[in-house]
Amino acid sequence: MTTIAIISQKGGAGKTTLALHLAAAAHDSGRVALVIDTDPQATASQWAAWRQEAPPEVIDSPPPRLAAKVAQAKEQGAEFIVIDTPPHADSAARAAVEIADLVLIPCRPSAFDLSAIQTTAKLVQLLRKPAFVVFTAGSPNAPRVYQEAGELVESFGTPACPIQIPDRAAFRHASAEGRTVMEFEPTGKAADDVRQIFEWTCRQVGISTPTIKPARKGKVAA
Ligand SMILES: Nc1ncnc2c1ncn2[C@@H]1O[C@H](COP(=O)(O)OP(=O)(O)OP(=O)(O)O)[C@@H](O)[C@H]1O
Ligand SMILES: [Mg+2]
Repeated sequence: MTTIAIISQKGGAGKTTLALHLAAAAHDSGRVALVIDTDPQATASQWAAWRQEAPPEVIDSPPPRLAAKVAQAKEQGAEFIVIDTPPHADSAARAAVEIADLVLIPCRPSAFDLSAIQTTAKLVQLLRKPAFVVFTAGSPNAPRVYQEAGELVESFGTPACPIQIPDRAAFRHASAEGRTVMEFEPTGKAADDVRQIFEWTCRQVGISTPTIKPARKGKVAA
């Protein structure tokens, strides 16, 4: 079983979007995927409610119960768990990092956001967990921006993930309808971004690179 923690003290960095899409990609690859929502805002849980029974499953957990929930999920057959965390919550982020095999830190490639991730970077370094910054919602065509942002986060002691999740309207449209971008636009660029970052994530945690099934078509929830 693999457990990925998605953390960032900064609000609106793209944590929930990344958590849901990684779990959905894991499901599409044939794995039993689960999202654990530790955010009192319950955004991931709301998305799941819109989808009714459609996978991936999302359960909630207060941070102190997280370890027990992960253990229970493992017993029940979960193979790929993604933990979504709230912003501005050191204890929730810490609980997620402690239990995770890999930590992903979504961050918009802008000066304010980049500066804010220093706190998050310190936390993962303190707990000695492998962690990468994932640049989210930046321009799709700005290699220089990503290169400079990557060098900056590297100077904070945390490397950048080589795959970005750029600003794509499909993420906003899909989430608002309780769908994934793979369901919304299976052959679109956003779906491709998700498949790439999922495959990269699998390589980081040493699980075999999956063959992703074609995306489910049709509207899941209105
Ligand atoms: N790559 C992207 N392209 C376009 N829109 C995006 C992208 N990633 C996230 N968004 C949008 O940005 C907003 C914030 O994203 P999200 O809810 O995932 O952030 P968050 O870090 O979980 O926020 P919070 O800190 O409040 O929990 C949402 O409207 C989402 O649809
Ligand atoms: Mg969120």
